[in-house]
Amino acid sequence: MAKNTPRFVCQTCGSVTSKWSGRCDGCGEWNTIVEEKPLGTGSGKGALGKGRGRAMVLSDLSSPEAPPPRRRCGMDELDRVLGGGLVAGSAILVGGDPGIGKSTLLLQAAARFAQNGLDVIYVSGEEASAQVRMRAQRLSLDRAPVRLAAETNLRDILTTLEAERPDLVIVDSIQTMWVDQVDSAPGSVAQVRAAAHELTSFAKRQGIAAIMVGHVTKDGQIAGPRVVEHMVDTVLYFEGERGHQFRILRSVKNRFGAADEIGVFAMTGAGLSEVPNPSALFLAERGAPAAGSVVFAGIEGTRPVLCEIQALVAPSPHSQPRRSTVGWDGGRLSMILAVLEARCAIPFAGLDVYLNVAGGMRITEPAADLAVAAALLSAREDAALPHDTVVFGEISLSGAVRPVSQAESRLKEARKLGFTGAIVPEGGKLPEGGDIGLTRMGSLAAFVGEIFGAG
Ligand code: TYD
Ligand code: MG
Repeated sequence: MAKNTPRFVCQTCGSVTSKWSGRCDGCGEWNTIVEEKPLGTGSGKGALGKGRGRAMVLSDLSSPEAPPPRRRCGMDELDRVLGGGLVAGSAILVGGDPGIGKSTLLLQAAARFAQNGLDVIYVSGEEASAQVRMRAQRLSLDRAPVRLAAETNLRDILTTLEAERPDLVIVDSIQTMWVDQVDSAPGSVAQVRAAAHELTSFAKRQGIAAIMVGHVTKDGQIAGPRVVEHMVDTVLYFEGERGHQFRILRSVKNRFGAADEIGVFAMTGAGLSEVPNPSALFLAERGAPAAGSVVFAGIEGTRPVLCEIQALVAPSPHSQPRRSTVGWDGGRLSMILAVLEARCAIPFAGLDVYLNVAGGMRITEPAADLAVAAALLSAREDAALPHDTVVFGEISLSGAVRPVSQAESRLKEARKLGFTGAIVPEGGKLPEGGDIGLTRMGSLAAFVGEIFGAG
């Protein structure tokens, strides 16, 4: 882009356009596009040519490489999400809504890493050291050997880190950091990008692990964590419903481990406590058998998690019936409703449909299709499914129920929690259920016939 052309950048997703518009084409957010000065274009004139750089050292794929050493903090829920511990020289982004508990989580992690012998520096750009210290006292972590600083100037931070050489630095948050070479306000896309880039490359050069916090923002005043996702090795999101005490740490990208791994925590008066058995917790609030309630046996990362799917179907007073979901994709709900309508002749026209995953959990697995369909049918027919039965299976547009991965671990978890029956896909490799009675379904129509007596 020529030097003088104006440059407009979306503060949420970082899309660049040459003219301003009210809505970003990249992410669909409104009022997030602002004009920015272009980034430096480098000193050289003309194209990069041969003879200008240094020769690189090339190696082949079979060069021996030891797996990276991992340092664990002892909070299993966090260590697992990191891929089995912290890797030296890696950059990690922890995103989440303001107030969800990111600072609390990272202060607890800092203390645990420090107690395990790591040299940890916690840099807060949002709170004064006294505030961080007060939180540490509240969490009874004030004796942990974590070193604190309240600073926003990245140059000063990197100079200090270079002298101190810690094992881990935590920067809370990347949006408050300020790089003096970049001529725009802290929190803008240019600043956040530059700060994250400087910090990441510094961490890699020095072998220091860096964890940075990024607030998810809706109003576009400051850049969201998405603009730095591609720079870091690991992206974790800390999510949860404000009204619920459960918090889920989810890895959406991990160069050193499995993505989609989750860690479950509960926010208490004394900070975050680990929830080693989330299934029991998600099912704890389940009452007597009720229409519209179905237990789905899911897999999150490497771990089976059982959760309750609730549906409510009611005649709609509106000409356009409502379709509302919490914790499940709205498009996927429409698809299942369409399949029920087209393949099983069960119409939902004129009916409001509400679908909710209990406990603040968010499910993205297609394996939950059959459980969602079961909840919808059960709510529509006002007939409860057997209370001690789990359901899983993917539904295709043809109405077939398709096998899903890791059926064995799903059943094992169900057995552990005392379930005695499972409604599962027909095809695929499926073990005998043992003490769990398996009901195998080849199609959604068969399911409707068997469970609800031909609808
Ligand atoms: P915080 O970690 O400051 O959130 P973030 O850094 O993501 O903005 O957490 C803020 C909320 O957590 C605050 O509303 C109070 C609550 N909280 C507790 O419930 N218990 C605790 O022990 C602590 C430290 C915070
Ligand atoms: Mg915070």
